[in-house]
Amino acid sequence: MNANKGATVLHLILIAFYTRYACADDHFKMGVNTNAAEAMQFLREYDREASGMCYRVTLSQWKFVTNITEHNRRRMAEELALSSKFERLSWRKAAAFDVSRVPDPQARRQLMKIVQSSRAALPEDKFTELQQLISEMKEIYNSAKICPFGQKPYDPHVPKVGYLGAEKQEDDRNYPGHQQYKLTNQPYQHYQPYQDNAEYPNYCDMQLDPEITRILAHSRIESELLYVWKSFRDQTGPKLKNSFMRYVQLTNQAAVDTGFRDAGEQMRAAYEDPSFRASAEEVYNQVAPLYKQLHAHVRRRLLQRYSSHGLRADGPIPAHLLGNMWAQNWKSIMDLVMPFPSSPSLDVTSEMLRQGFTPLRMFQMAEEFYTSMGLKALPPEFWRASLLARPQRAGVQCTASAWDFCNRIDYRIKQCTEVSMQDLVSTHHEMAHIQYYLHYAEQPQLFRDGANPAFHEAVANAATLSVYNAPHLQRLGLYNNKSHDQYEVSMNFLMAMALEKVAYLPFAFMVDQWRWSVFEDGVQDMNARWWQMKLRYQGVIPPIPRTEADFDPGSKYHIISDQEYVKYFLATVLEFQIFEQMCRAAGHAGHLHECDVHRSRDAGRLLSEIMQAGSSKPASEIIRTMTRGKTNRISPEAIVKYFRPLELWLRVQNREEPVVGWNSNADDVKLFAPLRAAAISRTASAILLIVCIANQLLL
Ligand SMILES: *[C@@H]1O[C@H](CO)[C@@H](O)[C@H](O)[C@H]1NC(C)=O
Ligand SMILES: *[C@@H]1O[C@H](CO)[C@@H](O)[C@H](O)[C@H]1NC(C)=O
Ligand SMILES: *[C@@H]1O[C@H](CO)[C@@H](O)[C@H](O)[C@H]1NC(C)=O
Ligand SMILES: [Zn+2]
Repeated sequence: MNANKGATVLHLILIAFYTRYACADDHFKMGVNTNAAEAMQFLREYDREASGMCYRVTLSQWKFVTNITEHNRRRMAEELALSSKFERLSWRKAAAFDVSRVPDPQARRQLMKIVQSSRAALPEDKFTELQQLISEMKEIYNSAKICPFGQKPYDPHVPKVGYLGAEKQEDDRNYPGHQQYKLTNQPYQHYQPYQDNAEYPNYCDMQLDPEITRILAHSRIESELLYVWKSFRDQTGPKLKNSFMRYVQLTNQAAVDTGFRDAGEQMRAAYEDPSFRASAEEVYNQVAPLYKQLHAHVRRRLLQRYSSHGLRADGPIPAHLLGNMWAQNWKSIMDLVMPFPSSPSLDVTSEMLRQGFTPLRMFQMAEEFYTSMGLKALPPEFWRASLLARPQRAGVQCTASAWDFCNRIDYRIKQCTEVSMQDLVSTHHEMAHIQYYLHYAEQPQLFRDGANPAFHEAVANAATLSVYNAPHLQRLGLYNNKSHDQYEVSMNFLMAMALEKVAYLPFAFMVDQWRWSVFEDGVQDMNARWWQMKLRYQGVIPPIPRTEADFDPGSKYHIISDQEYVKYFLATVLEFQIFEQMCRAAGHAGHLHECDVHRSRDAGRLLSEIMQAGSSKPASEIIRTMTRGKTNRISPEAIVKYFRPLELWLRVQNREEPVVGWNSNADDVKLFAPLRAAAISRTASAILLIVCIANQLLL
């Protein structure tokens, strides 16, 4: 063990020696071209060409996902290849300038954006290899199939159907904003085992979406949950672990060649906050007490349902019992944890059906929601080209998404809308993305983006928080509060929201904690570190022992597809912060969860100021303006306030609990192996820091 430690330290010293510029304050290896006029000229050309490139790529992606054919797939792959060639070329040009000599701060910002987030610093063969690796991992993930519970083993002759790219404008489909908000007041329907259920195929062809997801959401048979939980992991993680380790090596090299210490630091740079990690951790610490209350209540109800299966009254929760493959969204177990099962809840689907709603009418309502706040009407191109309902033909990938074609004309939504409350919410959500696109349309291409990676989702969700509350639905004539106990309805509503938003927070936080630690400390003990963090932050444990032959992080799409994740954590917090500010502007008094910003021009003005800036200013400035100088940080005060009434209810429920939170014992930890990595990595980071300081003194 000591020898290992020595070797690691030596290795780190060598890395630090060769990359000492990475320790400097400024992250860029600057070029030598000091001609500012040339830089301005380059940016003008870049803006024109990048917009054109973006238009062609987006159009080819649109054509593919709305009409999945081999021809359209090939066209899309060609456009993506051209686009990455363009990226490399532009990167080289941009990196040649000495940014510090460009007097215009907005131009400096644009140059830095081109250089900072790209992997184009890699030599061409490695750059290509990296892209290849990512698309191979996606292919493995997308083609993972398992047999139904109790059936014969996987048949390798089943053809693969994975596809490339095209998730650009889409969010984590398990992310709350996109998820099927549904507060069901129907009694829990007894789950039908697959044998009797025509929906489940009788051969080894079950995919994550929809079959496996559906089983995790609806089955209450522990052995079946365990089976799909394990089988999906067997068919993904181990098959792409080697590719992932090479991916870590290459992304780290790209980061170092760009001037960062490692790939994690490069990913975090988009937040423009030197103390980003500490800020994020602080946000987590402030929401943890609320999460622990929810966790304790859910654990008690699960114990009532499952009696043991690894559950203890004071322990962490086995990860397969929470209704979701990653235990990240617990809405599917609402039937088990509902505060007042005999009270109705806010699902207006049947009322919408009774009133003869159509998808078109839902989109018109959403447009009216935004125009009533003084925001923008949608252009005719939107209504002409969007895909708002499920078409008759096959070959459409139906995930809801909002599209900006980068030409300041063409904006579309793709959503196979059904007449339901969840789709009414989703309609407002996607349309908020379109509002964002419309508001920053006049910015240069490089600034047509959220203020930081968390903003787009946060804005879209902030606007929609208003849509599913009772006062709004009442105003729309979809809900009538007369005959119900309002307190019970509110608690049911807040519980449903908490199962999506609060339960999600520690998961969304830990994913990148793990990823950063891999970039920073290396690929040893990756699976054990994953579970160590899941236990620490989420209070969940694997239902069966795991080893380093497993690779459970590889069963999460955003890990293997190279998509940063902490943005979802921050977006979930920020959405409430923005919502609270909109409610303040609208003059709302009373509970935050009852605020409706419909028809408030003042709330609209606040939102449009946020959106107009795009990413032309640091997020901290935008937050400062939005909060009228109160803070420049993402703050969890609003989300805690929103859930306060539920938290009070939970505290009463949890009075008798041995512990609110979880005590982990040696058996919990043994499930994923003893850990020496943590201790070593802490020492290593400290030494790296010292070496950095020493290097700076030497320079
Ligand atoms: C789908 O794409 C094919 C090309 O692969 C094209 O011929 C066809 O017209 C498209 N269908 C629709 C409905 O757009
Ligand atoms: C926020 O403001 C404080 C001082 O007012 C400053 O020190 C800090 O760097 C700012 N944070 C960010 C992320 O800009
Ligand atoms: C029902 O809603 C109306 C209008 O929002 C409100 O004034 C009233 O207090 C509500 N009734 C109950 C019982 O909460
Ligand atoms: Zn979204």
